[in-house]
Amino acid sequence: MHIVAIDGPAGSGKSSVSKASALRLGFGYLDTGAAYRALTLSFLEKKIDVTNLNSQEIAEQFDYAISLDPSNFWVRAFGFDVTEAIREPRVAQAVSLTAGNTEVRAYMKELTRTLVSQSQLPGVVVEGRDITTVVFPDAQTRILLTASEEVRLSRRSAELPAGVSLTEMVTKRDQTDSKVVDFMTPSEGVSLLDSTELTFEQTVDAVIHLVRELR
Ligand code: DC
Repeated sequence: MHIVAIDGPAGSGKSSVSKASALRLGFGYLDTGAAYRALTLSFLEKKIDVTNLNSQEIAEQFDYAISLDPSNFWVRAFGFDVTEAIREPRVAQAVSLTAGNTEVRAYMKELTRTLVSQSQLPGVVVEGRDITTVVFPDAQTRILLTASEEVRLSRRSAELPAGVSLTEMVTKRDQTDSKVVDFMTPSEGVSLLDSTELTFEQTVDAVIHLVRELR
């Protein structure tokens, strides 16, 4: 199986570029942030404090399923479809706290590796914040997708929900998240792909090129 690991900050185009690349390659697509969001949503609903949970308690509490089909994306938690709900601002505001728990991260790493290995697909494009470094340091293709802060902010402003500031949605969350994982500097063997001057299609082309180069 060919694993394409893609990391990057908010607004770098990670999700849409990963999804489009998966479609062109005939690969699966796995959004790993969705699990952090679904877990956060469940905690919010159940009023559970995330800070003290250990990985065994998480495994017992979390009933999760996600589609790896790039043309039919859905997320389920506790038997409910949460595809839309995990994008709510209350989830975006609370998710960094969930992602800061090291037990949660250990659990998510295993969950991600299991979802990919059980998929029986020829390849999977996996995107997140620690995929090239922690979850799949052994992936055949590893890419850090970035863009200047100005470009990232302007891309995100298009999808900003009412009542949420851009700083809160992008800059603040990246600052909090980067205390846990460094997703701004490529580690050894990771290709840096800067999309500041590229169109969406050019960025996808660059990903495909990197994948083919390594096949
Ligand atoms: O990519 P996203 O915005 O949906 O991710 C939601 C949050 O989950 C984000 O604040 C960082 C965290 N996350 C993480 O820590 N590690 C991952 N592999 C994916 C997401």
